[in-house]
Amino acid sequence: MTSGSGAHRIAVIGGDGIGPDVTREALKVVEAAGVAIETVEFDLGGQRYLRDGEVLSDATLDELRGFDAILLGAVGHPDVPPGVIERGLLLKLRFDLDLYVNHRPFVGTAPGHSEPHDFVVVRENTEGPYVGEGGFLRKGTPHEVATQGSVNTRMGAERAIRYAFELAARRERKHVTLVHKTNVLTFAGDLWMRAFEDVAAEFPDIGTAYNHVDAATIYFVQDPHRYDVIVTDNLFGDILTDLGGAVSGGVGRASSANLNPARTGPSMFEPVHGSAPDIAGQNKADPTAAILSAAMMLDFLGEADAAARIRAACDEPVTGSTTHVGDTIAGRVRD
Ligand code: IPM
Ligand code: MN
Repeated sequence: MTSGSGAHRIAVIGGDGIGPDVTREALKVVEAAGVAIETVEFDLGGQRYLRDGEVLSDATLDELRGFDAILLGAVGHPDVPPGVIERGLLLKLRFDLDLYVNHRPFVGTAPGHSEPHDFVVVRENTEGPYVGEGGFLRKGTPHEVATQGSVNTRMGAERAIRYAFELAARRERKHVTLVHKTNVLTFAGDLWMRAFEDVAAEFPDIGTAYNHVDAATIYFVQDPHRYDVIVTDNLFGDILTDLGGAVSGGVGRASSANLNPARTGPSMFEPVHGSAPDIAGQNKADPTAAILSAAMMLDFLGEADAAARIRAACDEPVTGSTTHVGDTIAGRVRD
């Protein structure tokens, strides 16, 4: 750990399973890049919940607000019922810190293709079916009803869309595709489409397209080169980004940034993969996704040069144990 004035203050949530292992390698690589950081570890996740019942207290959340960024490994434990940690920790952080963009880059060569693709999915990260609107009626009876609404605000859709256009403006191809399901989700889809068209009008130099989400899954596999920046709703983005990882060299390389572009608080950086409890503690997990997520963190903190060096060091895939991959990439960054 490097400390001193000017060091970036990073909250580290290693989490569960392979999370702490891959996060350790990511921090090793950040230090190898010569960036001054000061880290504070937070023991949060399923393991912690099983020990003393804490998922994320208000006091801990307030403490996290004071950091420059949060680096997260993975959370999720097989003994914790679904939803407790996901909603109580990960989604709570995304919502309460207003991390309204989930930025997920995909660079790789899809199976059956010979040239690499390079696209980014901008996933709206605070709304849609993730807000937890709905509930049960007559639960456990034959007349049970469950509803789960999708909340779409004009402001929420528009700010994600605007981020996508601003991002595309800085990229070579300058193109944004809206992915939705406007032919069936005629209320939410209509709002998204109007917001998209209005923002597009402000960016006359950016090309645009629209794909239904089901068609997009075909294009991800058969024609990923058509994409530059994709913007989509929270649930479509969740599903599409697993597929994006699968066609871009595997989820072991898929990185992500939960961003508060308005910078009213820290942003959070995490690999797309989960906690993989079956291989936890065996020094087997590929830390590359966590390392690339740390590079995104450095970019966001204004350390573009270090971030570029880390990305370049990850270009040539490394295989082997978690620590071997981390050491090799750290070595390349130092050279
Ligand atoms: C992701 C994950 C999360 C999500 C889960 C763990 C709540 O799948 O970051 O993609 O659905 O957003
Ligand atoms: Mn997911």
